[in-house]
Formats: sequence, structure tokens, C-alpha cells
Amino acid sequence: MEITVSIDDITRAQVGAIIVYVFEGEARPEYETARVDGVMGGAISNLMDTGDIKGKLNQTVIIHTFGKLSAPKLAVVGLGKKIDLTIDKLRAAVAGVCRYLQKNNVSSAATVTAGVDIGKIDWTGSAQAIAEGALLGLYTFRKHITAESENAEFSQLTIVDNDAGKLTQLQEGVRIGTIIAKATNLARDMVNEPSNFMTPSDLAAVASDIARTYNLDITVLERDQVRELGMGAFLGVAQGSQQPPKFIILRYKGKQTDGIDVALVGKGITFDSGGISIKPSEGMGDMKGDMAGGASVITVIGAIAELKIRINVMAIVAATENLPGGTALKPGDVLKTISGKTIEIITTDAEGRLTLADAIGYARKQRAHAIIDVATLTGAIQVALGNICTGVFGNNQDLIDQIISAGKQAGEYAWQMPMFEEYKEQNKSDVADVKNSGGRPGGSITAAQFLAEFAGDTPWVHLDIAGTADTDKERGYLVKGATGVPVRTLVNFFLAST
Ligand code: BES
Ligand code: MN
Ligand code: ZN
Repeated sequence: MEITVSIDDITRAQVGAIIVYVFEGEARPEYETARVDGVMGGAISNLMDTGDIKGKLNQTVIIHTFGKLSAPKLAVVGLGKKIDLTIDKLRAAVAGVCRYLQKNNVSSAATVTAGVDIGKIDWTGSAQAIAEGALLGLYTFRKHITAESENAEFSQLTIVDNDAGKLTQLQEGVRIGTIIAKATNLARDMVNEPSNFMTPSDLAAVASDIARTYNLDITVLERDQVRELGMGAFLGVAQGSQQPPKFIILRYKGKQTDGIDVALVGKGITFDSGGISIKPSEGMGDMKGDMAGGASVITVIGAIAELKIRINVMAIVAATENLPGGTALKPGDVLKTISGKTIEIITTDAEGRLTLADAIGYARKQRAHAIIDVATLTGAIQVALGNICTGVFGNNQDLIDQIISAGKQAGEYAWQMPMFEEYKEQNKSDVADVKNSGGRPGGSITAAQFLAEFAGDTPWVHLDIAGTADTDKERGYLVKGATGVPVRTLVNFFLAST
């Protein structure tokens, strides 16, 4: 799929379909849509008069052009009421119409820019949203399906405007949108990949590919090196699996001065069976996606490098399977972390926080100025927030606010959860410094409080994406399976931070 910008008359575009937009409650088409309507002899306004085109959000009406336009088909897409338009609705509407055209065997389309000056959207923002909507909405994961797809591939979308003065802004929007969407789709691929194709070694191989492509520094620590560093909690999780664990470290230096501005830490459990505290078999297959946080930080650091953002970032993923082998970790065991703190194992299914304790501890030893961790950490966050919002926790309100605001812009909702000290009580252990489960009440909060112990006084934010990393139904530009959350939030955060 390629997205380009062209300064041209859209009525002459040689494509399978032209896309224009209308608003609900407006009597007449406007801007470029009005011009296309004129060339079409008033076909759009007639259908608005008869009520066939209402402009309701995502309503798509296909009109055959019978030679009036160069393209054989015209798609008229509703964007809802003008005052309600947001960049995210535009993104979703573009995704919807692209998928619709793809299902109807259209392989190329041209679109006008939409929504500019409405809902605070500028030319760059509109082009970015169109690029993101198309690339995210048309995403599929067919790698393991040997039968060929029934539809022709939708391979070309052109944003057409007749004002040459808009060219650079439109191109810039397409450039940024394409980088962000491709990073998101790569993270989706990694999460959708079955665990036998995305082992810790495979995850490290993807990280190496990204390092090579963007000239990042990469270190992958093996079991012995991890042991020497004292990461007993990470090793404890890894000891029940035949797959060698990999501690993946990527570094991007975007400015002259030394020091790590932000360490991104992603949970990298390539399969979570629960270990000895084994999960019920129903739905266990979804746990192939328990490395979604890790996938996101790996693709985000690639996107940051591609965008040449002036910041120094490190991405860390402690990758392992969580399996109940004969050498597996057991409830009651005690593990020592890189920080020196000890942990009593209540359940081997609370493995994410164990690996993160060492990864966060490692980031602190590297003197990262701030830490953002991303993890499919708890079923409890799904109970609390459903599948719409990511749970946000942290020890620094400024950083929390920045992440939430970056998420809003991306259409990736993030909701702050409480961190009252009283919750810490539930993590107290009789035999070690802390225990790895605080029980059912407030499960996502006690998990965050556990991580807070290891973040110490480093400014830190924790994103619990257990509810948002995948979806069981199509929604806007999200398709069934991995969502790529929170890749776009994090890239936006870094774009805004410099
Ligand atoms: N990977 C799971 C959390 C999860 C649940 C992610 C559902 C995605 C969807 C995590 O390792 C886990 O098993 N958490 C336990 C913790 C409990 C045993 C303290 C949970 O949430 O049940
Ligand atoms: Mn688990
Ligand atoms: Zn897990």
C-alpha cells in the first residue's frame, strides 16, 4: 500500500474510485466535494435532497460516474456533524471507506483532503490522518493462510488537491502518518504472530532488523549474562521454558548530549501459560500476545529514529516464555532482583511484574531520566476499564498528563488509575521484601504498586494494555486481532516532547 500526494484536478484522476466527504446537517456539498458535484451534474446534491446521502458518520454511498469523472466510481463518505468532527473520526472514516472499496475490488483511489479548519484540523494533520486511517484500516495478517485472497489488493491511495501551496504540508502529513502507521502495523504483526513464530529469539531478531534499518545500537543479553547482572526475577520466569530468554536493549541517540532521556520498557512474555499456576485452557491462545508491550517499544524506537526526533531513548524487553516445565518457578519460591529487593512468589501467573522488576531495575542502573513501561499486565484492568481505555499509573503527574494527552490525539484513550499508598499493604510479604500478588481487589493497582517499588524515585509511567492490545471485533481503523496500542500514543508523546 502506497500513499502519495498529487497537485491536480481530482475529477481527472485515473484511479478506481474518488473519495469525497459530506457533513450531516449541511444542505449542500462544500469545498472540493462541491466542485466534484458540479462536474457530476449535481448527482451528490440530488442524493442529499432525496435523503439518500445524510452525511452520517461513516455512511458511504457509491455513485457510478459514467464517464463524467475519469474514475468509474465516486465514494461519498459521511463525517457526521461538523462540530463533532475530530481527527480520530476522520482517521476511522478513511479506514472504513478504504476497506469498503477493497472488498469491492477497487485497487486504487484518490481522496480530497477533509476536515481542514474544522475541529482544529490543519493540512498536515488531515493528510496524516488520511494516511494513518488507510494504512491501519487495510491491515490484515494473512501470513499463515495459504489460500489466496479473493480481492485485489488496494495498493494506491493519492491525496489530491488543486492548490500547489499545500503540497509540502500534505507531503509532511503523509510522511509522518506513514511512519507511525507502519510502526503500528509491525507491532500488530509481532503480536498476531503465533508464539511458535515469535519466540524470545524471534523477538530479538525483529529488534536486530530494526536496529540495522535505523542504525540503532543493540545488545541482546543471554541467560548467563543476565545471571551475572543479578536479574533473578526475570530468570525465575524463564527457568520453566526450553526457549532461551533474551534481554533486548536498543539505544537511539538523537542528540549530542549523553544520558538517556527516556527508557521504554516493554513486557515481553512470548507465551503466558501461567506457569505452574497454570491458566484455564479456554482463551489461553490469546496469551501469544503477552509481548505486545515489548513489540510496541521496539517499533516505537524505530519510528523515533526514522523521524529523527532529537532525544535519547532506550528500549528494553526482557523476553521469555512462561511455561510449567520441570524446572519451573513454583509458588512459595523467593527471587532476588537486580535492585537487591527480594520477591515471594504467590502465583507464577503474575510473571509480567517479575520480568518488569528487573527490566525497570536495569533502566535505573543505566540512569535513565524517566521510565515508561508498557505491559499486558493484568486481567483486572480489563475488568476496570474494558477494552476502550489503557490504564495509566505512575509517580509523576506531569509525565502522566503528557502521555494521556498524546493518547487523546492518537485516538488511543488512556485513563489514570489511583496510586494511593494504602494499596501497598496488599503486596506485603512475611518472607521477602514484597510478594508478586496482592490478591483480587484492585488487581491492576496493586500490580502497579509492585512496579513502583522498583521504579523508586525515577519519574515513571506504567501503561497496562491488557484490555487494549487486541480486539475481537473490527472498530474504526482497528481490525480483529492486535491493535498496535500504544505505538501511536508513544510516538506522539516523543514528537510533542521536543
Ligand atoms: N498476561 C496476563 C494478563 C492478561 C490477562 C493479559 C488477560 C491480557 C489479557 C498476566 O500475566 C496475568 O496472568 N495476570 C494475572 C495476575 C494475577 C495472577 C495476580 C491476572 O490478571 O489474572
Ligand atoms: Mn500471567
Ligand atoms: Zn502475562
